[in-house]
Amino acid sequence: MTDSQKDNRFYITTPIYYVNAAPHIGHAYTTIVADVVTRYKRLTGAETFFLTGTDEHGDKVMRAAAAKGVSPKQYADEISGLFKGLWVDLMITNDRFIRTTDPDHIGVVQSILQKVYDSGDIYFAKYGGLYCVGCERFYTERELVDGKCPDHDTTPEYIEESNYFFRMSTYQDRLIDHITGNPDFIRPERYRNEVLSFLKEPLEDLCISRPKTRISWGIELPFDDKYVCYVWFDALINYLTGLGYPDDPKFKKFWPVCRHLTAKDIIKPHGIYWPTMLMAAGIPLYQSLNVHGYWTIEASKMSKSLGNIVNPLSLKDKYGLDAFRYYLMREMSFGLDSSFSEEALVARLNADLANDLGNLVNRALTMAAKYFDSRVPDPKDGPGPTDGDLVETAARVRADYIEGMEGFAFHKALIAVWELVSLLNRYIVENQPWELAKTEETAGRLSRVIYNTLEGLRFLGVFLVPFMPGTAEKILTRLGVGTTAAVAGLDSTAAWGGLAGGLPITVAEALFPRVDASQTIVREEAKKMEVHVEPIVADLISYEEFQKIDLRLGIVTAAEAVPKSEKLIKMTVDIGEERTIVAGIGKQYTPEQMVGRRIVVVANLKPAKLMGVESRGMLLAVVDEKEGLSLVTVDKEAAPGGRLS
Ligand code: MSP
Repeated sequence: MTDSQKDNRFYITTPIYYVNAAPHIGHAYTTIVADVVTRYKRLTGAETFFLTGTDEHGDKVMRAAAAKGVSPKQYADEISGLFKGLWVDLMITNDRFIRTTDPDHIGVVQSILQKVYDSGDIYFAKYGGLYCVGCERFYTERELVDGKCPDHDTTPEYIEESNYFFRMSTYQDRLIDHITGNPDFIRPERYRNEVLSFLKEPLEDLCISRPKTRISWGIELPFDDKYVCYVWFDALINYLTGLGYPDDPKFKKFWPVCRHLTAKDIIKPHGIYWPTMLMAAGIPLYQSLNVHGYWTIEASKMSKSLGNIVNPLSLKDKYGLDAFRYYLMREMSFGLDSSFSEEALVARLNADLANDLGNLVNRALTMAAKYFDSRVPDPKDGPGPTDGDLVETAARVRADYIEGMEGFAFHKALIAVWELVSLLNRYIVENQPWELAKTEETAGRLSRVIYNTLEGLRFLGVFLVPFMPGTAEKILTRLGVGTTAAVAGLDSTAAWGGLAGGLPITVAEALFPRVDASQTIVREEAKKMEVHVEPIVADLISYEEFQKIDLRLGIVTAAEAVPKSEKLIKMTVDIGEERTIVAGIGKQYTPEQMVGRRIVVVANLKPAKLMGVESRGMLLAVVDEKEGLSLVTVDKEAAPGGRLS
């Protein structure tokens, strides 16, 4: 297949989720990412296939079912149904929902097992190890705590068991070569390095069977009916079954462009077991493994007892699906961890969505309705002086958006889109259409300004299709454009001016009503429980209030440690006048490192005594989870005393 043929096809998979517990925010995130990127690829005109599903075999599920007193299959049916239902609620557009209990999957797993067995890469051997009866599994020495099972606090027994093993070790060098020769095979790079570092140790063979006497809930080995297949060997193969391997034309079409999406928890099975299994089965490797970080639930800002009361999935009901999807995609940098918070969601909803985007759409459509009888005007005047900037920015935003989407840097794509949102808001303010509407002489200019604003909205509508399908549809239909691929594909934004004059405009309800930030679920619950929650920090202040803070650029002329203090440093700072400032930065900076530095100082803070030394001002720094504290500075050699604004 040539690259250009490949370019037009796209196959994405999510992990198939275990059915031992109900879906949560992490599952929702991965599946929404897959949906966003698939919708984006459709927007570019690509032919796509999107697979998700559930992983139903193995001891975890067997045990969860036993605890509920139902059969594993009944249990799997119930939980699998919850996942399937949630994807409908989240407007996920997967092409197939695969279950590892599907008959075609069982057939494919057995055919691959047989193929690898026949080629000599599966062998039978006796295995001896430390076995915990409570967990019904083997432990390695390293997993034990003081020689005991960490879950049961009992000493495991040494037992011997015969099992089937996959010769994974044979493929170690080939896998290393493949990863080093294909820089995009595992991305982002940190995860590629993680896999390469696993591979520095000798790879062991993989035990791929479980005796039925221990675990019966699994796919029977085709060459020995006393054993079932190990759950990971079974599960990974779903990515082939989903395409109808081996004979369905979809397999031929989409397998060469397969992209897996997972979080960092399962890179070992995806980055090591899976490619070596494919090598053994004589199947070409997938195109790339795309790994994201973890969502953690932030509980630090509130009492611990409140930390877990908010089920993040319930937030979509309160704040709307599009706001929920937007928050997840905007907040997480793909590859890194993020902490989930309802308040951050509300802050984004009010600022980015209600304020910036919602008001823009409403304002623009209302003006078109008022001045042009609810039609898109044909621009009568040529472009004015500020118009070039708008057209150029739109083209650059489009390029940044494409780069972000192609590179799985979704938050960057959204940052780019919001640049256009801000510029359009400014464009309206600068051009003051309400003034232009006052006289006949400026009617031509008015038509140009409104046309450009609406054209900008059309671009936004198209860019937002993958992230917020409902909102994008509202924007495009209110513009009279419609949402078919012919008019709303990404190509339609290749040049400015595609919006046809005369289309009917509809003014309707606000896209995103503002939310009262004091009435979040967390705060309402806190009131009921009479728990104190810190006030919201993100209260808006006026420009005048901000102006009261006198920020000055300073240069440190002398510095010394404050005696008996671990982290306080006393500095003499030139801010146009000389000031003594004491700051708790001694863990990250030495006094010597401070001398000569440019820092930003809050100059009109009331003096305070720290360990007996009076500090007249405060310096600004930012605290980062990973990097620790870093000082705010300026990027040119500006003179001290200058006011920041
Ligand atoms: N059944 C295996 C996968 C087999 S794939 C052939 C499995 N299932 S799981 O239910 O545990 O799902 C793990 C996946 O769920 C993660 O890789 C990620 O996609 C998603 N997430 C679960 N918790 C998560 C977070 N806290 N944050 C982000 N995603 C996480 O492993």
